[in-house]
Amino acid sequence: MSARSNIPLEYYLAISRAVAGELDFQNVLNRIAESVQTKLLDYDHLDVAIVLPGDSSMHVAFETGLETHWGKNRDTQPNDLSPIRHVLNGKVPHILTGDAWEDERFHFEGACDAPIYDANLHSRMHVPLYVHGKVLGTLNVSSHRKNAYTEEDLAISQNIADLISPYVYALNMSEQARVSALAEGAARGREQSLRVGALRLTEAMEAERQRLGMELHDQTLAELSAVYHQVTRLSEKPDPDPGELGQISDSIAHCISELRGIIENAKPGVLELFGLSQAIEAQLERATIGIDRVVKTLVTDATGDLLDGGPEPIRTAVFRIVQEAVTNAIKHSRCSWITVTLSCTTEHIRIVVANDGDEPAEGWRRSSGGVDNIRVRAALISSKVEFSRNPSGIGSQTNLTIPLSVLSDGPEDTLDFEEPPVAPRRRSGQLEQHMP
Ligand SMILES: Nc1ncnc2c1ncn2[C@@H]1O[C@H](COP(=O)(O)OP(=O)(O)OP(=O)(O)O)[C@@H](O)[C@H]1O
Ligand SMILES: [Mg+2]
Repeated sequence: MSARSNIPLEYYLAISRAVAGELDFQNVLNRIAESVQTKLLDYDHLDVAIVLPGDSSMHVAFETGLETHWGKNRDTQPNDLSPIRHVLNGKVPHILTGDAWEDERFHFEGACDAPIYDANLHSRMHVPLYVHGKVLGTLNVSSHRKNAYTEEDLAISQNIADLISPYVYALNMSEQARVSALAEGAARGREQSLRVGALRLTEAMEAERQRLGMELHDQTLAELSAVYHQVTRLSEKPDPDPGELGQISDSIAHCISELRGIIENAKPGVLELFGLSQAIEAQLERATIGIDRVVKTLVTDATGDLLDGGPEPIRTAVFRIVQEAVTNAIKHSRCSWITVTLSCTTEHIRIVVANDGDEPAEGWRRSSGGVDNIRVRAALISSKVEFSRNPSGIGSQTNLTIPLSVLSDGPEDTLDFEEPPVAPRRRSGQLEQHMP
Protein backbone atom coordinates (compact mmCIF):
# COMPACT_ATOMS: atom_id res chain seq x y z
CA MET A 1 0.00 0.00 0.00
CA SER A 2 1.59 3.24 -1.09
CA ALA A 3 -0.63 5.86 0.49
CA ARG A 4 -0.20 7.04 4.00
CA SER A 5 -3.55 7.39 5.72
CA ASN A 6 -4.42 10.46 7.84
CA ILE A 7 -1.96 12.63 5.97
CA PRO A 8 -1.15 15.70 8.01
CA LEU A 9 -1.63 19.09 6.33
CA GLU A 10 2.03 19.63 7.02
CA TYR A 11 2.94 17.19 4.21
CA TYR A 12 0.97 19.14 1.64
CA LEU A 13 2.42 22.42 2.85
CA ALA A 14 5.87 20.91 2.31
CA ILE A 15 5.07 20.89 -1.42
CA SER A 16 4.19 24.60 -1.39
CA ARG A 17 7.33 25.41 0.51
CA ALA A 18 9.48 23.31 -1.83
CA VAL A 19 8.33 25.13 -4.96
CA ALA A 20 8.14 28.65 -3.49
CA GLY A 21 10.23 31.10 -5.48
CA GLU A 22 11.21 28.55 -8.13
CA LEU A 23 10.47 29.79 -11.62
CA ASP A 24 11.82 27.09 -13.88
CA PHE A 25 9.04 24.63 -14.62
CA GLN A 26 11.24 21.53 -14.67
CA ASN A 27 12.77 22.50 -11.31
CA VAL A 28 9.30 23.07 -9.87
CA LEU A 29 8.25 19.63 -11.01
CA ASN A 30 11.39 17.99 -9.60
CA ARG A 31 10.72 19.57 -6.20
CA ILE A 32 7.07 18.55 -6.23
CA ALA A 33 8.13 15.02 -7.13
CA GLU A 34 10.63 14.87 -4.22
CA SER A 35 8.05 16.05 -1.68
CA VAL A 36 5.44 13.65 -3.02
CA GLN A 37 7.82 10.69 -2.93
CA THR A 38 9.05 11.24 0.59
CA LYS A 39 5.74 12.11 2.22
CA LEU A 40 2.71 11.13 0.18
CA LEU A 41 2.92 8.49 -2.57
CA ASP A 42 5.32 5.88 -3.87
CA TYR A 43 5.79 5.97 -7.62
CA ASP A 44 8.24 5.04 -10.36
CA HIS A 45 7.18 7.64 -12.90
CA LEU A 46 5.62 11.04 -12.38
CA ASP A 47 4.82 13.60 -15.01
CA VAL A 48 2.67 16.62 -15.64
CA ALA A 49 1.01 17.10 -19.02
CA ILE A 50 0.13 20.70 -19.85
CA VAL A 51 -2.49 21.60 -22.44
CA LEU A 52 -1.09 24.29 -24.74
CA PRO A 53 -2.64 27.67 -23.94
CA GLY A 54 -2.78 28.59 -27.62
CA ASP A 55 -4.13 25.22 -28.84
CA SER A 56 -6.22 23.20 -26.41
CA SER A 57 -6.06 20.13 -28.67
CA MET A 58 -2.32 19.68 -27.97
CA HIS A 59 -0.25 19.11 -24.85
CA VAL A 60 3.34 18.83 -23.74
CA ALA A 61 4.66 16.52 -21.00
CA PHE A 62 7.22 17.30 -18.29
CA GLU A 63 8.65 14.21 -16.61
CA THR A 64 10.72 13.49 -13.53
CA GLY A 65 12.86 10.48 -12.87
CA LEU A 66 12.26 8.02 -15.70
CA GLU A 67 12.38 9.56 -19.17
CA THR A 68 9.97 8.28 -21.79
CA HIS A 69 8.89 9.22 -25.29
CA TRP A 70 6.07 11.31 -23.77
CA GLY A 71 8.45 13.98 -22.50
CA LYS A 72 11.13 13.59 -25.15
CA ASN A 73 12.37 16.92 -26.53
CA ARG A 74 9.30 18.59 -25.06
CA ASP A 75 7.49 17.66 -28.26
CA THR A 76 3.89 18.77 -28.41
CA GLN A 77 1.47 15.86 -28.87
CA PRO A 78 -2.18 15.77 -29.90
CA ASN A 79 -4.46 15.12 -26.90
CA ASP A 80 -6.46 12.68 -28.99
CA LEU A 81 -3.49 10.31 -29.33
CA SER A 82 -2.65 10.33 -25.64
CA PRO A 83 -3.66 7.23 -23.60
CA ILE A 84 -5.21 9.69 -21.13
CA ARG A 85 -7.02 11.74 -23.80
CA HIS A 86 -10.33 11.63 -21.91
CA VAL A 87 -8.84 13.28 -18.81
CA LEU A 88 -6.99 15.88 -20.93
CA ASN A 89 -10.17 16.69 -22.85
CA GLY A 90 -12.26 16.87 -19.66
CA LYS A 91 -14.47 13.89 -20.57
CA VAL A 92 -13.75 11.89 -17.38
CA PRO A 93 -12.80 13.23 -13.91
CA HIS A 94 -9.79 10.89 -13.51
CA ILE A 95 -8.39 7.46 -14.42
CA LEU A 96 -7.23 4.86 -11.90
CA THR A 97 -5.95 1.52 -13.17
CA GLY A 98 -4.29 -1.48 -11.57
CA ASP A 99 -2.62 -2.53 -14.82
CA ALA A 100 -2.25 -0.13 -17.73
CA TRP A 101 -0.85 -2.95 -19.91
CA GLU A 102 -4.23 -4.66 -19.88
CA ASP A 103 -6.53 -1.65 -19.52
CA GLU A 104 -8.26 -1.01 -22.86
CA ARG A 105 -8.76 2.69 -22.10
CA PHE A 106 -5.04 3.24 -22.79
CA HIS A 107 -4.84 1.39 -26.07
CA PHE A 108 -6.55 2.39 -29.29
CA GLU A 109 -5.68 2.99 -32.94
CA GLY A 110 -2.82 5.52 -33.12
CA ALA A 111 -2.42 5.79 -29.33
CA CYS A 112 0.98 6.96 -28.10
CA ASP A 113 1.05 4.05 -25.61
CA ALA A 114 4.55 2.63 -26.23
CA PRO A 115 6.06 4.25 -23.09
CA ILE A 116 3.61 2.24 -20.94
CA TYR A 117 5.45 -0.90 -22.05
CA ASP A 118 8.90 0.63 -22.51
CA ALA A 119 8.95 2.09 -18.99
CA ASN A 120 7.13 -0.91 -17.53
CA LEU A 121 4.26 1.13 -16.08
CA HIS A 122 1.43 -0.96 -14.64
CA SER A 123 -0.48 0.91 -11.92
CA ARG A 124 -1.43 4.42 -13.01
CA MET A 125 -3.39 7.42 -11.65
CA HIS A 126 -4.33 10.42 -13.76
CA VAL A 127 -6.00 13.47 -12.26
CA PRO A 128 -6.75 16.82 -13.87
CA LEU A 129 -5.17 20.15 -12.98
CA TYR A 130 -8.09 22.57 -12.96
CA VAL A 131 -8.00 26.34 -13.30
CA HIS A 132 -11.23 28.37 -13.60
CA GLY A 133 -13.07 25.07 -14.07
CA LYS A 134 -11.02 24.18 -17.16
CA VAL A 135 -8.52 21.36 -17.52
CA LEU A 136 -5.10 22.96 -17.65
CA GLY A 137 -3.33 19.59 -17.72
CA THR A 138 -2.95 16.37 -15.77
CA LEU A 139 -0.84 14.97 -12.95
CA ASN A 140 0.17 11.40 -13.79
CA VAL A 141 1.55 8.94 -11.25
CA SER A 142 2.67 5.43 -12.23
CA SER A 143 4.22 2.38 -10.59
CA HIS A 144 6.00 -0.71 -11.94
CA ARG A 145 3.83 -2.81 -9.62
CA LYS A 146 0.33 -3.95 -10.45
CA ASN A 147 -2.63 -2.79 -8.28
CA ALA A 148 -0.39 -0.41 -6.33
CA TYR A 149 -2.92 2.40 -5.89
CA THR A 150 -6.28 2.75 -4.15
CA GLU A 151 -9.12 5.28 -4.21
CA GLU A 152 -7.42 6.91 -1.25
CA ASP A 153 -4.21 7.39 -3.30
CA LEU A 154 -6.33 8.84 -6.07
CA ALA A 155 -7.78 11.39 -3.64
CA ILE A 156 -4.26 12.30 -2.50
CA SER A 157 -3.20 12.75 -6.12
CA GLN A 158 -6.16 15.06 -6.72
CA ASN A 159 -5.23 17.07 -3.59
CA ILE A 160 -1.69 17.45 -4.91
CA ALA A 161 -3.03 18.45 -8.34
CA ASP A 162 -5.34 21.06 -6.77
CA LEU A 163 -2.47 22.42 -4.76
CA ILE A 164 -0.07 22.84 -7.67
CA SER A 165 -2.58 23.93 -10.34
CA PRO A 166 -2.48 27.71 -9.62
CA TYR A 167 1.32 27.59 -9.53
CA VAL A 168 1.54 25.68 -12.81
CA TYR A 169 -1.00 28.07 -14.35
CA ALA A 170 0.99 31.15 -13.27
CA LEU A 171 4.24 29.67 -14.59
CA ASN A 172 2.59 28.73 -17.83
CA MET A 173 1.18 32.22 -18.30
CA SER A 174 4.49 33.91 -17.54
CA GLU A 175 6.27 31.57 -19.97
CA GLN A 176 3.69 32.43 -22.60
CA ALA A 177 4.15 36.15 -21.91
CA ARG A 178 7.93 35.71 -22.24
CA VAL A 179 7.55 33.87 -25.57
CA SER A 180 5.15 36.51 -26.93
CA ALA A 181 7.48 39.28 -25.78
CA LEU A 182 10.34 37.57 -27.64
CA ALA A 183 8.18 37.09 -30.74
CA GLU A 184 7.07 40.72 -30.59
CA GLY A 185 10.68 41.84 -30.22
CA ALA A 186 11.70 39.72 -33.20
CA ALA A 187 8.79 41.08 -35.28
CA ARG A 188 9.75 44.62 -34.33
CA GLY A 189 13.35 43.87 -35.33
CA ARG A 190 12.21 42.48 -38.68
CA GLU A 191 9.99 45.49 -39.31
CA GLN A 192 12.88 47.81 -38.46
CA SER A 193 15.32 46.07 -40.82
CA LEU A 194 12.68 46.06 -43.53
CA ARG A 195 12.21 49.78 -43.04
CA VAL A 196 15.96 50.37 -43.26
CA GLY A 197 16.10 48.08 -46.31
CA ALA A 198 13.25 49.90 -48.03
CA LEU A 199 15.01 53.17 -47.34
CA ARG A 200 18.21 51.83 -48.90
CA LEU A 201 16.22 50.57 -51.85
CA THR A 202 14.68 54.03 -52.33
CA GLU A 203 18.17 55.50 -52.18
CA ALA A 204 19.33 52.93 -54.72
CA MET A 205 16.42 53.87 -57.00
CA GLU A 206 17.30 57.54 -56.63
CA ALA A 207 20.92 56.68 -57.50
CA GLU A 208 19.63 54.72 -60.50
CA ARG A 209 17.62 57.76 -61.63
CA GLN A 210 20.76 59.90 -61.40
CA ARG A 211 22.75 57.26 -63.30
CA LEU A 212 20.11 57.31 -66.04
CA GLY A 213 20.25 61.10 -66.23
CA MET A 214 24.02 60.96 -66.52
CA GLU A 215 23.96 58.26 -69.18
CA LEU A 216 21.42 60.18 -71.23
CA HIS A 217 23.43 63.33 -70.81
CA ASP A 218 26.91 61.95 -71.45
CA GLN A 219 26.16 59.39 -74.15
CA THR A 220 23.00 60.15 -76.02
CA LEU A 221 22.89 63.91 -75.70
CA ALA A 222 26.57 64.24 -76.58
CA GLU A 223 26.12 62.05 -79.64
CA LEU A 224 22.94 63.83 -80.74
CA SER A 225 24.75 67.19 -80.44
CA ALA A 226 27.50 65.88 -82.69
CA VAL A 227 24.91 64.70 -85.22
CA TYR A 228 23.18 68.09 -85.04
CA HIS A 229 26.44 69.88 -85.85
CA GLN A 230 27.21 67.51 -88.72
CA VAL A 231 23.73 68.05 -90.22
CA THR A 232 23.96 71.82 -89.79
CA ARG A 233 27.34 71.84 -91.50
CA LEU A 234 26.09 69.63 -94.28
CA SER A 235 22.99 71.73 -94.88
CA GLU A 236 25.28 74.68 -95.69
CA LYS A 237 26.94 72.73 -98.51
CA PRO A 238 25.30 72.74 -101.93
CA ASP A 239 26.43 69.22 -102.64
CA PRO A 240 26.34 66.88 -99.53
CA ASP A 241 29.06 64.21 -99.48
CA PRO A 242 27.43 60.69 -99.43
CA GLY A 243 30.23 59.46 -97.11
CA GLU A 244 29.35 62.16 -94.54
CA LEU A 245 25.63 61.32 -94.88
CA GLY A 246 26.49 57.67 -94.19
CA GLN A 247 28.39 58.70 -91.03
CA ILE A 248 25.36 60.66 -89.83
CA SER A 249 23.11 57.72 -90.46
CA ASP A 250 25.52 55.44 -88.47
CA SER A 251 25.59 57.92 -85.59
CA ILE A 252 21.80 58.07 -85.44
CA ALA A 253 21.58 54.27 -85.52
CA HIS A 254 24.12 54.11 -82.69
CA CYS A 255 22.11 56.65 -80.67
CA ILE A 256 18.95 54.60 -81.16
CA SER A 257 20.63 51.43 -80.00
CA GLU A 258 22.12 53.16 -76.94
CA LEU A 259 18.77 54.68 -76.08
CA ARG A 260 17.14 51.26 -76.39
CA GLY A 261 19.74 49.78 -74.03
CA ILE A 262 19.18 52.54 -71.48
CA ILE A 263 15.40 52.15 -71.65
CA GLU A 264 15.59 48.37 -71.46
CA ASN A 265 17.77 48.56 -68.37
CA ALA A 266 15.47 51.08 -66.74
CA LYS A 267 12.19 49.38 -67.47
CA PRO A 268 11.77 45.71 -68.24
CA GLY A 269 9.54 46.27 -71.26
CA VAL A 270 9.63 42.62 -72.32
CA LEU A 271 8.35 41.73 -68.88
CA GLU A 272 5.13 43.62 -69.42
CA LEU A 273 4.69 42.54 -73.00
CA PHE A 274 5.77 38.90 -72.98
CA GLY A 275 6.01 37.83 -69.36
CA LEU A 276 8.64 36.88 -66.83
CA SER A 277 10.38 33.93 -68.52
CA GLN A 278 10.97 35.83 -71.74
CA ALA A 279 12.09 38.92 -69.87
CA ILE A 280 14.61 36.76 -68.00
CA GLU A 281 15.74 35.21 -71.25
CA ALA A 282 16.15 38.68 -72.82
CA GLN A 283 18.10 39.78 -69.74
CA LEU A 284 20.41 36.77 -70.05
CA GLU A 285 21.00 37.62 -73.68
CA ARG A 286 21.78 41.25 -72.90
CA ALA A 287 24.07 40.28 -70.03
CA THR A 288 26.10 37.77 -72.04
CA ILE A 289 26.51 39.69 -75.29
CA GLY A 290 29.75 41.61 -75.68
CA ILE A 291 31.65 40.07 -72.79
CA ASP A 292 35.06 38.50 -73.19
CA ARG A 293 34.00 34.86 -72.61
CA VAL A 294 31.26 32.54 -73.80
CA VAL A 295 28.50 32.03 -71.24
CA LYS A 296 25.77 29.54 -72.03
CA THR A 297 22.33 30.13 -70.63
CA LEU A 298 19.14 28.21 -70.00
CA VAL A 299 15.75 29.28 -68.66
CA THR A 300 13.40 26.49 -67.53
CA ASP A 301 9.88 27.31 -66.43
CA ALA A 302 7.78 24.53 -64.88
CA THR A 303 5.26 26.87 -63.28
CA GLY A 304 3.06 27.45 -66.30
CA ASP A 305 3.89 31.18 -66.23
CA LEU A 306 2.26 31.32 -62.81
CA LEU A 307 3.85 34.64 -61.86
CA ASP A 308 2.54 36.33 -65.00
CA GLY A 309 -0.99 35.94 -63.65
CA GLY A 310 -0.03 37.39 -60.25
CA PRO A 311 0.34 40.96 -59.04
CA GLU A 312 2.67 43.12 -61.10
CA PRO A 313 4.88 44.32 -58.20
CA ILE A 314 5.76 40.71 -57.39
CA ARG A 315 6.69 39.97 -60.99
CA THR A 316 8.84 43.09 -61.19
CA ALA A 317 10.55 42.30 -57.86
CA VAL A 318 11.32 38.77 -59.05
CA PHE A 319 12.67 40.08 -62.33
CA ARG A 320 14.92 42.57 -60.53
CA ILE A 321 16.21 39.86 -58.20
CA VAL A 322 17.02 37.55 -61.13
CA GLN A 323 18.55 40.47 -63.02
CA GLU A 324 20.95 41.27 -60.17
CA ALA A 325 21.80 37.59 -59.62
CA VAL A 326 22.60 37.21 -63.33
CA THR A 327 24.60 40.45 -63.41
CA ASN A 328 26.58 39.31 -60.38
CA ALA A 329 27.26 35.90 -61.90
CA ILE A 330 28.64 37.54 -65.06
CA LYS A 331 30.52 40.23 -63.20
CA HIS A 332 32.07 38.26 -60.35
CA SER A 333 32.01 34.51 -60.89
CA ARG A 334 33.92 33.84 -64.16
CA CYS A 335 31.18 31.30 -64.92
CA SER A 336 30.72 29.43 -68.22
CA TRP A 337 27.00 28.82 -67.75
CA ILE A 338 24.01 30.38 -65.99
CA THR A 339 20.65 28.69 -65.50
CA VAL A 340 17.39 30.16 -64.24
CA THR A 341 14.86 27.57 -63.09
CA LEU A 342 11.28 28.31 -62.05
CA SER A 343 9.30 25.56 -60.34
CA CYS A 344 6.40 25.25 -57.92
CA THR A 345 5.02 23.07 -55.15
CA THR A 346 1.62 23.22 -53.50
CA GLU A 347 2.91 26.02 -51.28
CA HIS A 348 5.73 27.85 -53.00
CA ILE A 349 7.23 29.07 -56.21
CA ARG A 350 10.95 28.48 -56.31
CA ILE A 351 13.37 30.36 -58.53
CA VAL A 352 16.98 29.28 -58.70
CA VAL A 353 19.63 31.29 -60.51
CA ALA A 354 22.70 29.06 -60.70
CA ASN A 355 26.16 29.36 -62.25
CA ASP A 356 29.29 27.22 -62.38
CA GLY A 357 31.74 29.98 -61.46
CA ASP A 358 33.62 31.00 -58.32
CA GLU A 359 31.83 31.51 -55.06
CA PRO A 360 32.32 34.90 -53.38
CA ALA A 361 35.70 34.76 -51.65
CA GLU A 362 34.33 36.52 -48.58
CA GLY A 363 30.97 34.75 -48.42
CA TRP A 364 27.56 36.25 -49.06
CA ARG A 365 27.33 38.67 -46.16
CA ARG A 366 29.38 41.29 -47.99
CA SER A 367 27.33 43.49 -50.28
CA SER A 368 28.03 46.69 -52.09
CA GLY A 369 24.33 47.12 -52.78
CA GLY A 370 23.16 44.44 -55.18
CA VAL A 371 22.99 41.49 -52.78
CA ASP A 372 21.39 43.66 -50.08
CA ASN A 373 18.82 44.87 -52.58
CA ILE A 374 18.03 41.26 -53.42
CA ARG A 375 17.42 40.56 -49.73
CA VAL A 376 15.21 43.62 -49.30
CA ARG A 377 13.21 42.99 -52.46
CA ALA A 378 12.60 39.41 -51.33
CA ALA A 379 11.50 40.54 -47.86
CA LEU A 380 9.16 43.14 -49.35
CA ILE A 381 7.30 40.39 -51.21
CA SER A 382 7.30 38.12 -48.10
CA SER A 383 9.71 35.72 -49.74
CA LYS A 384 12.88 34.01 -48.65
CA VAL A 385 16.21 34.27 -50.40
CA GLU A 386 19.26 32.09 -49.80
CA PHE A 387 22.70 32.12 -51.39
CA SER A 388 24.52 28.83 -51.42
CA ARG A 389 26.91 26.50 -53.19
CA ASN A 390 25.34 24.35 -55.93
CA PRO A 391 24.46 20.81 -54.78
CA SER A 392 27.03 19.53 -57.31
CA GLY A 393 29.72 21.39 -55.35
CA ILE A 394 30.66 23.57 -58.35
CA GLY A 395 29.46 27.17 -58.56
CA SER A 396 26.78 28.89 -56.57
CA GLN A 397 23.11 29.72 -56.66
CA THR A 398 20.61 32.33 -55.56
CA ASN A 399 17.49 30.64 -54.30
CA LEU A 400 14.22 32.56 -54.06
CA THR A 401 11.18 30.97 -52.40
CA ILE A 402 7.87 32.80 -52.84
CA PRO A 403 4.83 31.60 -50.87
CA LEU A 404 1.87 31.04 -53.20
CA SER A 405 -0.24 33.04 -50.76
CA VAL A 406 1.35 36.26 -52.03
CA LEU A 407 -0.33 35.63 -55.35
CA SER A 408 -3.69 35.31 -53.60
CA ASP A 409 -5.47 37.40 -56.19
CA GLY A 410 -3.66 35.41 -58.87
CA PRO A 411 -4.34 32.18 -60.68
CA GLU A 412 -3.57 29.44 -58.15
CA ASP A 413 -7.25 28.47 -57.78
CA THR A 414 -7.34 27.29 -61.31
CA LEU A 415 -4.21 25.19 -61.23
CA ASP A 416 -3.73 21.59 -60.25
CA PHE A 417 -0.47 21.38 -58.32
CA GLU A 418 -0.34 17.58 -58.06
CA GLU A 419 1.82 17.64 -61.17
CA PRO A 420 3.71 20.62 -62.55
CA PRO A 421 1.02 22.61 -64.37
CA VAL A 422 2.82 22.27 -67.70
CA ALA A 423 5.82 20.34 -68.89
CA PRO A 424 8.98 22.31 -68.19
CA ARG A 425 9.57 24.72 -71.00
CA ARG A 426 13.17 25.06 -72.10
CA ARG A 427 13.76 28.38 -73.73
CA SER A 428 17.47 28.56 -74.53
CA GLY A 429 18.20 25.05 -75.57
CA GLN A 430 21.94 25.00 -76.15
CA LEU A 431 22.90 23.96 -72.64
CA GLU A 432 21.55 20.46 -72.03
CA GLN A 433 24.86 18.62 -72.23
CA HIS A 434 26.54 21.05 -69.79
CA MET A 435 23.80 21.07 -67.18
CA PRO A 436 24.70 20.19 -63.59
N1 LIG B 1 27.27 35.14 -58.38
C1 LIG B 1 28.35 35.53 -57.69
N2 LIG B 1 29.47 34.80 -57.77
C2 LIG B 1 30.59 35.16 -57.10
N3 LIG B 1 30.66 36.26 -56.29
C3 LIG B 1 29.58 37.01 -56.16
C4 LIG B 1 28.34 36.70 -56.84
N4 LIG B 1 27.44 37.63 -56.51
C5 LIG B 1 28.04 38.48 -55.68
N5 LIG B 1 29.34 38.14 -55.46
C6 LIG B 1 30.29 38.79 -54.55
O1 LIG B 1 29.53 39.51 -53.59
C7 LIG B 1 29.89 40.89 -53.61
C8 LIG B 1 28.67 41.73 -53.37
O2 LIG B 1 27.78 41.70 -54.47
P1 LIG B 1 26.83 42.92 -54.71
O3 LIG B 1 25.92 42.61 -55.81
O4 LIG B 1 26.23 43.31 -53.41
O5 LIG B 1 27.82 44.09 -55.11
P2 LIG B 1 28.51 44.38 -56.49
O6 LIG B 1 27.99 43.49 -57.56
O7 LIG B 1 29.99 44.35 -56.25
O8 LIG B 1 28.08 45.88 -56.75
P3 LIG B 1 26.65 46.39 -57.27
O9 LIG B 1 25.70 45.24 -57.26
O10 LIG B 1 26.26 47.45 -56.27
O11 LIG B 1 26.91 46.91 -58.63
C9 LIG B 1 30.52 41.11 -54.97
O12 LIG B 1 31.43 42.19 -54.94
C10 LIG B 1 31.19 39.77 -55.23
O13 LIG B 1 32.45 39.74 -54.60
MG1 LIG C 1 25.96 43.28 -57.87
